[in-house]
Amino acid sequence: MSFQKLKSKIESKKVTVGIVGLGYVGLPLAVEFARAGVKVIGIDVSPGKISSLKSGTSYVEDVPSSAVAAVTGNGTFKPHRSFRKLRKADAVIICVPTPLRKSRDPDLSYIVKASRAVAECISADTLVILESTSYPGTTGEILVPALEKQRLKAGRDVFVAFSPERVDPGNSRYGIRNTPKVVGGYDEESAELAGDLYRIAVDRVVFAGSCEEAEIVKLLENTFRAVNIGLINEMAQLCDRFGLDIWRIIRAAASKPFGFMPFYPGPGLGGHCIPVDPQFLSWKAKSSRFYPYFIDYADEINRSMPAHVTAKASEILNESRRSVNGSKILLMGVSYKQNVGDVRESPAFEIADELLKLNASVSYTDPHVGSFMSLDRVDHKTASYATYNLVIIVTAHDDFDYKKILKESSWVLDCRGVTLDMEGKAKVRRI
Ligand SMILES: NC(=O)c1ccc[n+]([C@@H]2O[C@H](COP(=O)([O-])OP(=O)(O)OC[C@H]3O[C@@H](n4cnc5c(N)ncnc54)[C@H](O)[C@@H]3O)[C@@H](O)[C@H]2O)c1
Repeated sequence: MSFQKLKSKIESKKVTVGIVGLGYVGLPLAVEFARAGVKVIGIDVSPGKISSLKSGTSYVEDVPSSAVAAVTGNGTFKPHRSFRKLRKADAVIICVPTPLRKSRDPDLSYIVKASRAVAECISADTLVILESTSYPGTTGEILVPALEKQRLKAGRDVFVAFSPERVDPGNSRYGIRNTPKVVGGYDEESAELAGDLYRIAVDRVVFAGSCEEAEIVKLLENTFRAVNIGLINEMAQLCDRFGLDIWRIIRAAASKPFGFMPFYPGPGLGGHCIPVDPQFLSWKAKSSRFYPYFIDYADEINRSMPAHVTAKASEILNESRRSVNGSKILLMGVSYKQNVGDVRESPAFEIADELLKLNASVSYTDPHVGSFMSLDRVDHKTASYATYNLVIIVTAHDDFDYKKILKESSWVLDCRGVTLDMEGKAKVRRI
Protein backbone atom coordinates (compact mmCIF):
# COMPACT_ATOMS: atom_id res chain seq x y z
CA MET A 1 0.00 0.00 0.00
CA SER A 2 1.34 3.37 -0.92
CA PHE A 3 1.59 5.13 2.39
CA GLN A 4 4.27 7.54 1.22
CA LYS A 5 2.33 8.55 -1.88
CA LEU A 6 -0.78 9.46 0.10
CA LYS A 7 1.30 11.19 2.78
CA SER A 8 2.98 13.44 0.21
CA LYS A 9 -0.40 14.21 -1.36
CA ILE A 10 -1.75 15.26 2.03
CA GLU A 11 1.34 17.26 2.96
CA SER A 12 1.31 19.14 -0.34
CA LYS A 13 -2.48 19.69 0.04
CA LYS A 14 -3.05 17.92 -3.26
CA VAL A 15 -5.34 15.47 -1.51
CA THR A 16 -9.05 15.33 -2.42
CA VAL A 17 -11.27 14.84 0.63
CA GLY A 18 -14.73 13.28 0.46
CA ILE A 19 -17.13 14.14 3.26
CA VAL A 20 -20.20 11.94 3.66
CA GLY A 21 -23.08 13.53 5.59
CA LEU A 22 -23.20 17.32 5.33
CA GLY A 23 -25.04 18.20 8.55
CA TYR A 24 -23.99 20.09 11.66
CA VAL A 25 -20.69 18.20 11.69
CA GLY A 26 -19.91 17.46 8.04
CA LEU A 27 -20.68 20.86 6.55
CA PRO A 28 -18.39 22.96 8.80
CA LEU A 29 -15.63 20.38 8.26
CA ALA A 30 -16.08 20.46 4.48
CA VAL A 31 -15.95 24.27 4.45
CA GLU A 32 -12.87 24.35 6.72
CA PHE A 33 -10.94 21.92 4.47
CA ALA A 34 -12.01 23.82 1.36
CA ARG A 35 -10.98 27.13 2.91
CA ALA A 36 -7.58 25.60 3.63
CA GLY A 37 -7.25 25.05 -0.13
CA VAL A 38 -8.05 21.34 -0.34
CA LYS A 39 -10.53 19.95 -2.88
CA VAL A 40 -13.64 18.65 -1.13
CA ILE A 41 -16.37 16.38 -2.52
CA GLY A 42 -19.39 16.53 -0.23
CA ILE A 43 -22.01 13.76 -0.32
CA ASP A 44 -25.44 13.87 1.27
CA VAL A 45 -28.62 11.87 0.66
CA SER A 46 -30.79 14.94 1.17
CA PRO A 47 -31.62 16.57 -2.21
CA GLY A 48 -32.68 19.76 -0.39
CA LYS A 49 -29.30 20.15 1.32
CA ILE A 50 -27.36 19.52 -1.88
CA SER A 51 -29.35 22.04 -3.88
CA SER A 52 -29.07 24.57 -1.07
CA LEU A 53 -25.27 24.16 -1.00
CA LYS A 54 -25.05 24.32 -4.78
CA SER A 55 -26.77 27.68 -4.65
CA GLY A 56 -24.29 28.83 -2.00
CA THR A 57 -26.77 28.77 0.89
CA SER A 58 -25.94 27.37 4.31
CA TYR A 59 -28.45 25.64 6.59
CA VAL A 60 -26.08 25.37 9.57
CA GLU A 61 -26.07 28.46 11.80
CA ASP A 62 -22.32 28.36 12.53
CA VAL A 63 -21.49 28.35 8.81
CA PRO A 64 -22.37 31.59 7.02
CA SER A 65 -23.77 31.32 3.49
CA SER A 66 -20.96 33.59 2.33
CA ALA A 67 -18.43 30.91 3.39
CA VAL A 68 -20.33 28.20 1.47
CA ALA A 69 -20.72 30.44 -1.57
CA ALA A 70 -16.99 31.27 -1.56
CA VAL A 71 -15.85 27.63 -1.66
CA THR A 72 -18.57 26.35 -4.00
CA GLY A 73 -18.03 29.40 -6.23
CA ASN A 74 -14.30 28.77 -6.68
CA GLY A 75 -14.88 25.03 -7.20
CA THR A 76 -12.97 23.81 -4.09
CA PHE A 77 -16.14 22.36 -2.52
CA LYS A 78 -18.41 20.27 -4.74
CA PRO A 79 -21.62 18.96 -3.13
CA HIS A 80 -23.29 15.88 -4.70
CA ARG A 81 -25.89 13.23 -4.01
CA SER A 82 -24.11 10.46 -5.86
CA PHE A 83 -21.52 8.40 -4.00
CA ARG A 84 -19.84 7.66 -7.33
CA LYS A 85 -18.19 11.07 -7.09
CA LEU A 86 -16.10 9.62 -4.25
CA ARG A 87 -14.05 7.69 -6.82
CA LYS A 88 -11.83 10.76 -7.04
CA ALA A 89 -11.35 11.04 -3.26
CA ASP A 90 -8.04 10.13 -1.58
CA ALA A 91 -9.57 10.36 1.88
CA VAL A 92 -13.20 9.98 2.98
CA ILE A 93 -14.66 11.20 6.27
CA ILE A 94 -18.04 9.80 7.36
CA CYS A 95 -20.24 12.16 9.43
CA VAL A 96 -23.70 10.56 9.34
CA PRO A 97 -26.20 10.61 12.24
CA THR A 98 -26.16 8.11 15.11
CA PRO A 99 -29.48 8.57 16.91
CA LEU A 100 -31.12 6.36 19.53
CA ARG A 101 -34.09 4.22 18.61
CA LYS A 102 -37.37 4.70 20.50
CA SER A 103 -36.23 1.79 22.67
CA ARG A 104 -33.09 3.90 23.44
CA ASP A 105 -30.80 1.41 21.71
CA PRO A 106 -28.18 2.85 19.32
CA ASP A 107 -29.35 3.12 15.72
CA LEU A 108 -26.28 2.47 13.60
CA SER A 109 -28.18 2.00 10.35
CA TYR A 110 -26.81 5.29 8.93
CA ILE A 111 -23.20 4.20 9.54
CA VAL A 112 -23.96 0.78 8.04
CA LYS A 113 -25.45 2.30 4.87
CA ALA A 114 -22.80 4.99 4.47
CA SER A 115 -19.93 2.51 5.07
CA ARG A 116 -21.31 0.16 2.41
CA ALA A 117 -21.78 2.97 -0.09
CA VAL A 118 -18.29 4.36 0.54
CA ALA A 119 -16.69 0.90 0.28
CA GLU A 120 -18.39 0.32 -3.09
CA CYS A 121 -16.94 3.51 -4.56
CA ILE A 122 -13.42 3.96 -3.27
CA SER A 123 -10.28 2.30 -4.51
CA ALA A 124 -7.24 0.90 -2.71
CA ASP A 125 -4.89 3.31 -0.91
CA THR A 126 -7.75 5.52 0.30
CA LEU A 127 -7.91 6.75 3.89
CA VAL A 128 -11.37 6.25 5.44
CA ILE A 129 -12.21 8.00 8.71
CA LEU A 130 -15.37 7.61 10.76
CA GLU A 131 -16.42 10.71 12.75
CA SER A 132 -19.95 9.73 13.78
CA THR A 133 -20.19 9.26 17.53
CA SER A 134 -20.67 5.63 18.52
CA TYR A 135 -19.70 2.98 21.07
CA PRO A 136 -16.18 1.54 21.19
CA GLY A 137 -15.75 -1.09 18.52
CA THR A 138 -17.96 0.49 15.84
CA THR A 139 -15.16 1.20 13.36
CA GLY A 140 -13.88 -2.36 13.65
CA GLU A 141 -17.32 -3.97 13.69
CA ILE A 142 -19.04 -1.97 10.93
CA LEU A 143 -16.68 0.06 8.76
CA VAL A 144 -13.84 -2.46 8.49
CA PRO A 145 -16.10 -5.42 7.45
CA ALA A 146 -17.91 -3.18 4.90
CA LEU A 147 -14.54 -2.38 3.32
CA GLU A 148 -13.45 -6.01 3.45
CA LYS A 149 -16.61 -7.05 1.61
CA GLN A 150 -15.24 -5.02 -1.31
CA ARG A 151 -11.85 -6.71 -0.94
CA LEU A 152 -10.35 -3.67 0.74
CA LYS A 153 -8.54 -5.00 3.79
CA ALA A 154 -7.82 -2.41 6.49
CA GLY A 155 -4.10 -2.14 7.12
CA ARG A 156 -3.30 -3.80 3.79
CA ASP A 157 -5.36 -2.10 1.06
CA VAL A 158 -6.88 0.90 2.81
CA PHE A 159 -6.10 3.12 5.80
CA VAL A 160 -8.79 3.37 8.50
CA ALA A 161 -9.18 5.71 11.46
CA PHE A 162 -11.74 7.07 13.89
CA SER A 163 -11.80 10.71 14.96
CA PRO A 164 -14.63 12.04 17.11
CA GLU A 165 -16.19 15.38 16.28
CA ARG A 166 -16.12 17.73 19.25
CA VAL A 167 -17.72 20.91 17.87
CA ASP A 168 -19.90 22.88 20.21
CA PRO A 169 -22.58 24.58 18.09
CA GLY A 170 -22.91 28.28 18.83
CA ASN A 171 -19.51 28.46 20.58
CA SER A 172 -17.83 31.55 19.18
CA ARG A 173 -14.53 30.90 21.05
CA TYR A 174 -13.83 27.30 20.03
CA GLY A 175 -14.49 26.11 16.48
CA ILE A 176 -13.02 23.38 14.29
CA ARG A 177 -9.62 25.00 13.95
CA ASN A 178 -8.78 25.61 17.60
CA THR A 179 -10.43 22.52 19.14
CA PRO A 180 -7.80 19.75 19.29
CA LYS A 181 -8.75 16.72 17.19
CA VAL A 182 -8.45 13.24 18.71
CA VAL A 183 -7.41 10.57 16.22
CA GLY A 184 -7.17 6.79 16.62
CA GLY A 185 -5.91 4.62 13.78
CA TYR A 186 -6.50 1.02 12.78
CA ASP A 187 -2.70 0.86 12.61
CA GLU A 188 0.16 3.33 12.95
CA GLU A 189 0.21 4.37 9.30
CA SER A 190 -3.53 5.05 9.30
CA ALA A 191 -3.20 7.17 12.45
CA GLU A 192 -0.31 9.14 10.98
CA LEU A 193 -2.16 9.85 7.73
CA ALA A 194 -5.36 10.84 9.53
CA GLY A 195 -3.33 13.14 11.79
CA ASP A 196 -1.62 14.73 8.76
CA LEU A 197 -4.97 15.22 7.06
CA TYR A 198 -6.63 16.92 10.03
CA ARG A 199 -3.64 19.21 10.54
CA ILE A 200 -4.70 20.92 7.31
CA ALA A 201 -7.92 22.11 8.97
CA VAL A 202 -7.16 21.86 12.70
CA ASP A 203 -4.32 23.39 14.74
CA ARG A 204 -3.63 20.42 17.02
CA VAL A 205 -4.04 16.66 16.71
CA VAL A 206 -3.98 14.36 19.75
CA PHE A 207 -3.44 10.65 19.15
CA ALA A 208 -5.39 7.94 20.93
CA GLY A 209 -3.92 4.44 20.93
CA SER A 210 -6.54 2.87 18.62
CA CYS A 211 -9.90 3.43 16.96
CA GLU A 212 -11.62 2.02 20.08
CA GLU A 213 -9.77 4.45 22.37
CA ALA A 214 -10.71 7.40 20.16
CA GLU A 215 -14.33 6.19 20.10
CA ILE A 216 -14.56 6.02 23.88
CA VAL A 217 -12.80 9.39 24.39
CA LYS A 218 -15.82 11.14 22.90
CA LEU A 219 -18.21 9.13 25.06
CA LEU A 220 -16.18 9.88 28.19
CA GLU A 221 -16.30 13.63 27.44
CA ASN A 222 -20.05 13.69 26.99
CA THR A 223 -20.77 11.23 29.79
CA PHE A 224 -18.70 13.47 32.09
CA ARG A 225 -21.00 16.34 31.20
CA ALA A 226 -24.21 14.32 31.45
CA VAL A 227 -23.30 12.88 34.87
CA ASN A 228 -22.27 16.25 36.30
CA ILE A 229 -25.39 17.90 34.93
CA GLY A 230 -27.37 15.02 36.46
CA LEU A 231 -25.75 15.68 39.84
CA ILE A 232 -26.51 19.40 39.73
CA ASN A 233 -30.07 18.74 38.55
CA GLU A 234 -30.51 16.48 41.57
CA MET A 235 -29.03 19.22 43.80
CA ALA A 236 -31.47 21.71 42.23
CA GLN A 237 -34.44 19.49 43.12
CA LEU A 238 -33.02 18.92 46.61
CA CYS A 239 -32.44 22.67 47.20
CA ASP A 240 -35.95 23.37 45.95
CA ARG A 241 -37.25 21.08 48.70
CA PHE A 242 -35.33 23.20 51.26
CA GLY A 243 -36.47 26.47 49.67
CA LEU A 244 -32.85 27.30 48.73
CA ASP A 245 -31.69 28.92 45.48
CA ILE A 246 -29.26 26.54 43.71
CA TRP A 247 -27.90 29.34 41.51
CA ARG A 248 -26.61 31.35 44.46
CA ILE A 249 -25.16 28.18 45.96
CA ILE A 250 -23.26 27.28 42.77
CA ARG A 251 -21.94 30.82 42.48
CA ALA A 252 -20.57 30.72 46.02
CA ALA A 253 -19.10 27.19 45.55
CA ALA A 254 -17.45 28.25 42.28
CA SER A 255 -15.39 30.84 44.18
CA LYS A 256 -13.18 27.92 45.28
CA PRO A 257 -10.15 28.20 43.01
CA PHE A 258 -9.49 24.44 42.96
CA GLY A 259 -11.41 21.17 43.19
CA PHE A 260 -14.80 22.50 42.09
CA MET A 261 -16.07 22.92 38.56
CA PRO A 262 -19.45 24.62 38.16
CA PHE A 263 -22.21 22.83 36.26
CA TYR A 264 -25.68 24.32 36.03
CA PRO A 265 -29.16 22.85 36.28
CA GLY A 266 -31.68 23.25 33.48
CA PRO A 267 -35.06 22.16 32.16
CA GLY A 268 -33.58 18.94 30.72
CA LEU A 269 -30.90 17.86 28.29
CA GLY A 270 -31.23 18.41 24.57
CA GLY A 271 -29.33 18.16 21.32
CA HIS A 272 -27.78 15.27 19.50
CA CYS A 273 -24.91 14.57 21.90
CA ILE A 274 -25.21 14.89 25.68
CA PRO A 275 -28.52 13.01 26.12
CA VAL A 276 -27.59 10.42 23.47
CA ASP A 277 -23.89 9.58 23.72
CA PRO A 278 -23.86 8.17 27.30
CA GLN A 279 -26.59 5.76 26.20
CA PHE A 280 -24.28 4.36 23.53
CA LEU A 281 -21.74 3.60 26.24
CA SER A 282 -24.34 2.22 28.62
CA TRP A 283 -25.80 -0.04 25.92
CA LYS A 284 -22.38 -1.38 24.94
CA ALA A 285 -21.39 -1.90 28.60
CA LYS A 286 -24.56 -3.87 29.29
CA SER A 287 -23.97 -6.04 26.26
CA SER A 288 -20.72 -7.01 28.04
CA ARG A 289 -22.65 -7.57 31.32
CA PHE A 290 -21.33 -4.38 32.96
CA TYR A 291 -23.98 -2.13 34.54
CA PRO A 292 -22.96 1.56 34.50
CA TYR A 293 -25.01 2.91 37.43
CA PHE A 294 -23.77 6.52 37.26
CA ILE A 295 -24.63 6.88 33.58
CA ASP A 296 -28.10 5.42 33.88
CA TYR A 297 -28.96 7.28 37.07
CA ALA A 298 -27.81 10.63 35.62
CA ASP A 299 -29.95 9.93 32.56
CA GLU A 300 -32.96 9.26 34.77
CA ILE A 301 -32.53 12.51 36.70
CA ASN A 302 -31.89 14.56 33.58
CA ARG A 303 -34.97 13.10 31.94
CA SER A 304 -37.06 14.00 35.01
CA MET A 305 -36.31 17.72 34.61
CA PRO A 306 -39.09 18.66 32.13
CA ALA A 307 -41.62 17.11 34.57
CA HIS A 308 -39.98 19.10 37.39
CA VAL A 309 -40.50 22.28 35.34
CA THR A 310 -44.19 21.58 34.74
CA ALA A 311 -44.63 20.70 38.43
CA LYS A 312 -43.05 24.08 39.34
CA ALA A 313 -45.32 25.81 36.82
CA SER A 314 -48.36 24.21 38.38
CA GLU A 315 -47.14 25.16 41.90
CA ILE A 316 -46.68 28.80 40.83
CA LEU A 317 -50.14 29.01 39.25
CA ASN A 318 -51.59 27.36 42.35
CA GLU A 319 -50.07 30.13 44.46
CA SER A 320 -52.03 32.63 42.34
CA ARG A 321 -55.17 30.50 42.87
CA ARG A 322 -55.14 29.38 39.26
CA SER A 323 -55.14 26.00 37.61
CA VAL A 324 -52.88 25.13 34.68
CA ASN A 325 -56.11 24.51 32.78
CA GLY A 326 -56.93 27.79 31.02
CA SER A 327 -53.73 29.61 32.06
CA LYS A 328 -51.81 31.57 29.44
CA ILE A 329 -48.19 30.42 29.44
CA LEU A 330 -45.33 31.76 27.33
CA LEU A 331 -42.26 29.55 26.71
CA MET A 332 -39.16 31.65 26.10
CA GLY A 333 -36.54 29.83 24.00
CA VAL A 334 -37.45 26.39 22.66
CA SER A 335 -34.17 25.32 21.05
CA TYR A 336 -32.07 22.97 23.17
CA LYS A 337 -29.34 25.50 23.87
CA GLN A 338 -28.64 29.20 24.05
CA ASN A 339 -28.33 31.22 20.82
CA VAL A 340 -28.86 28.33 18.40
CA GLY A 341 -31.95 27.20 16.47
CA ASP A 342 -31.46 23.44 16.87
CA VAL A 343 -34.51 21.89 18.56
CA ARG A 344 -33.37 18.25 18.43
CA GLU A 345 -34.27 16.52 21.73
CA SER A 346 -35.15 19.92 23.22
CA PRO A 347 -36.84 19.64 26.64
CA ALA A 348 -39.27 22.33 25.42
CA PHE A 349 -41.17 19.58 23.55
CA GLU A 350 -42.01 17.68 26.72
CA ILE A 351 -42.73 20.84 28.72
CA ALA A 352 -45.12 22.17 26.05
CA ASP A 353 -46.71 18.76 25.61
CA GLU A 354 -47.41 18.34 29.34
CA LEU A 355 -48.82 21.87 29.68
CA LEU A 356 -51.03 21.36 26.62
CA LYS A 357 -52.30 18.07 28.04
CA LEU A 358 -53.33 20.01 31.15
CA ASN A 359 -55.21 22.42 28.84
CA ALA A 360 -52.96 25.45 29.27
CA SER A 361 -52.86 27.94 26.41
CA VAL A 362 -49.18 27.76 25.42
CA SER A 363 -47.31 30.16 23.11
CA TYR A 364 -43.60 30.44 22.46
CA THR A 365 -41.03 33.02 21.49
CA ASP A 366 -37.67 32.14 19.97
CA PRO A 367 -35.81 34.31 17.46
CA HIS A 368 -33.90 31.23 16.25
CA VAL A 369 -36.88 28.88 15.75
CA GLY A 370 -39.44 29.73 13.06
CA SER A 371 -42.07 27.18 14.06
CA PHE A 372 -42.43 24.85 17.02
CA MET A 373 -45.03 22.10 17.37
CA SER A 374 -48.30 23.87 16.58
CA LEU A 375 -47.74 26.65 19.13
CA ASP A 376 -48.48 30.30 18.42
CA ARG A 377 -45.24 32.17 17.83
CA VAL A 378 -44.82 35.55 19.50
CA ASP A 379 -42.17 38.15 18.72
CA HIS A 380 -40.07 38.61 21.87
CA LYS A 381 -39.61 42.34 21.15
CA THR A 382 -43.32 43.13 20.93
CA ALA A 383 -44.73 40.44 23.27
CA SER A 384 -47.20 41.70 25.92
CA TYR A 385 -45.64 39.86 28.81
CA ALA A 386 -48.29 41.21 31.20
CA THR A 387 -51.00 39.19 29.45
CA TYR A 388 -49.46 35.83 30.45
CA ASN A 389 -50.16 34.13 33.74
CA LEU A 390 -46.70 32.63 33.60
CA VAL A 391 -43.56 33.18 31.52
CA ILE A 392 -41.13 30.24 31.53
CA ILE A 393 -37.52 30.92 30.50
CA VAL A 394 -36.64 27.53 28.99
CA THR A 395 -33.60 28.58 26.95
CA ALA A 396 -31.92 31.88 27.71
CA HIS A 397 -31.03 33.43 24.35
CA ASP A 398 -28.95 36.62 24.43
CA ASP A 399 -31.62 38.42 22.36
CA PHE A 400 -34.14 38.36 25.19
CA ASP A 401 -34.54 41.52 27.26
CA TYR A 402 -34.72 40.03 30.76
CA LYS A 403 -35.19 43.41 32.46
CA LYS A 404 -38.28 44.06 30.34
CA ILE A 405 -39.58 40.54 31.02
CA LEU A 406 -39.21 41.04 34.78
CA LYS A 407 -40.71 44.51 34.60
CA GLU A 408 -43.85 43.46 32.73
CA SER A 409 -44.64 39.84 33.65
CA SER A 410 -46.56 38.78 36.73
CA TRP A 411 -44.81 35.43 37.24
CA VAL A 412 -41.55 34.12 35.78
CA LEU A 413 -40.17 30.60 36.09
CA ASP A 414 -36.47 30.85 35.26
CA CYS A 415 -34.89 27.52 34.28
CA ARG A 416 -31.47 29.05 33.45
CA GLY A 417 -30.57 31.34 36.33
CA VAL A 418 -30.52 34.48 34.18
CA THR A 419 -32.67 36.48 36.58
CA LEU A 420 -30.26 36.10 39.49
CA ASP A 421 -29.57 39.60 40.95
CA MET A 422 -32.22 41.20 38.74
CA GLU A 423 -35.10 43.19 40.16
CA GLY A 424 -38.54 43.72 38.65
CA LYS A 425 -42.23 43.65 39.32
CA ALA A 426 -42.52 39.96 38.46
CA LYS A 427 -42.46 37.26 41.10
CA VAL A 428 -39.65 34.88 40.15
CA ARG A 429 -38.94 31.22 40.85
CA ARG A 430 -35.82 29.55 39.59
CA ILE A 431 -35.19 25.85 39.19
N1 LIG B 1 -24.32 18.20 16.08
C1 LIG B 1 -23.30 18.19 16.90
O1 LIG B 1 -23.09 19.16 17.61
C2 LIG B 1 -22.35 17.02 17.00
C3 LIG B 1 -21.17 17.19 17.73
C4 LIG B 1 -20.29 16.15 17.82
C5 LIG B 1 -20.57 14.92 17.22
N2 LIG B 1 -21.74 14.76 16.54
C6 LIG B 1 -21.96 13.46 15.90
O2 LIG B 1 -21.69 13.60 14.50
C7 LIG B 1 -22.56 12.77 13.74
C8 LIG B 1 -23.33 13.60 12.74
O3 LIG B 1 -24.16 14.49 13.48
P1 LIG B 1 -24.82 15.77 12.84
O4 LIG B 1 -25.27 16.60 13.99
O5 LIG B 1 -23.93 16.37 11.82
O6 LIG B 1 -26.10 15.11 12.12
P2 LIG B 1 -27.02 15.81 11.03
O7 LIG B 1 -28.30 15.07 11.07
O8 LIG B 1 -27.00 17.28 11.19
O9 LIG B 1 -26.27 15.51 9.66
C9 LIG B 1 -26.09 14.26 9.13
C10 LIG B 1 -26.22 14.35 7.62
O10 LIG B 1 -26.01 13.05 7.09
C11 LIG B 1 -26.89 12.87 6.00
N3 LIG B 1 -27.00 11.44 5.78
C12 LIG B 1 -27.75 10.52 6.43
N4 LIG B 1 -27.52 9.29 5.94
C13 LIG B 1 -26.61 9.42 4.97
C14 LIG B 1 -25.96 8.52 4.09
N5 LIG B 1 -26.20 7.22 4.14
N6 LIG B 1 -25.10 9.02 3.19
C15 LIG B 1 -24.85 10.35 3.13
N7 LIG B 1 -25.42 11.25 3.94
C16 LIG B 1 -26.28 10.79 4.84
C17 LIG B 1 -28.17 13.55 6.43
O11 LIG B 1 -28.97 13.91 5.32
C18 LIG B 1 -27.59 14.79 7.16
O12 LIG B 1 -27.45 15.89 6.29
C19 LIG B 1 -23.43 12.03 14.75
O13 LIG B 1 -22.83 10.81 15.06
C20 LIG B 1 -23.39 12.95 15.96
O14 LIG B 1 -23.62 12.25 17.16
C21 LIG B 1 -22.63 15.79 16.40
